[in-house]
Amino acid sequence: MENIRNLINITDLTVDEINDLIKVADDIVDNPVKYQDSCAHKKLATLFFEPSTRTKMSFESAAMRLGANILSLPPVEQSSVQKGESFTDTIKMVESYSDLIAVRHPLDGAAKLASETSKKPVINAGDGSNQHPSQTLLDLYTILDEKGTLENLKIAFVGDLKYGRTVHSLAKALTHFNPSVMYFVAPQSLQMPEYLLEDLKKNGIKYEILEDFRDCLDKIDVFYMTRIQKERFPDIEDYEKVRGIYVINRENIEGKCKDDMIILHPLPRVDEIDTNLDNTKYALYFKQAKNGIPMRQAMMMTVLKKDKEFFL
Ligand code: NCD
Repeated sequence: MENIRNLINITDLTVDEINDLIKVADDIVDNPVKYQDSCAHKKLATLFFEPSTRTKMSFESAAMRLGANILSLPPVEQSSVQKGESFTDTIKMVESYSDLIAVRHPLDGAAKLASETSKKPVINAGDGSNQHPSQTLLDLYTILDEKGTLENLKIAFVGDLKYGRTVHSLAKALTHFNPSVMYFVAPQSLQMPEYLLEDLKKNGIKYEILEDFRDCLDKIDVFYMTRIQKERFPDIEDYEKVRGIYVINRENIEGKCKDDMIILHPLPRVDEIDTNLDNTKYALYFKQAKNGIPMRQAMMMTVLKKDKEFFL
């Protein structure tokens, strides 16, 4: 993985690079001790200009498990961002304090700008509604782990497909793996952006646009549920029209889907997955979140070129 320096867009990775990252994550799961000092004395900076629980904490936990140290931008209202410091000035500072930067920002393209500003590697921890490549890698890892393959799957993306960066990244990544069909289930106002659908068409990927998940429930291998992202609606009234539109629970899932269907969700959930599904065999979302640790360890090792010491 000679060329990987930043991880900004999932399309920056070839299919071989994705498979290599998965291989590294797998070995980390099997042999955690082997890697515990692999990034000793390195410093990970986490710059989160938007709320986060999983992504930030799993990056930090991953860094600790590699022997690295962590420094975090204080919450935006307590940092110099509040005084009017520009994003690029912030990056220039943090670059000199750290060896690697994980950045989350509400604006599309912010991570790319960070990578163009910083001499140190940058990982995109989510930029606006655009991309979330580290989430995608852990999603792929989870699907592969459960299904034994990433090829020829039928997957439904359900919920906020307009603003959902995890959906945008994962749909693009799956084009490498010859999906049988992707179902995009959303109210019209929250459907997949046209540029992404065009891209799928160009790649010869079969997809269907639906408004009701019951129209594909019995066919799919993966149910990828998402939260309606209230904070991204320019007009709160538009949010009110679609809030709570999709809710799954034992009553509307059990016996109506394939026996081995899995439910994924990048989390946080609000009300779209009833907690009565949590202890069923379908519910993979907490395991998915846990898989963020080895996958992010693999990403950090790769951009810091530490994977070379373990894999030739
Ligand atoms: C997602 C995100 O931030 O894009 N969460 C995550 O990183 N696991 C999805 C969301 O906020 O709904």
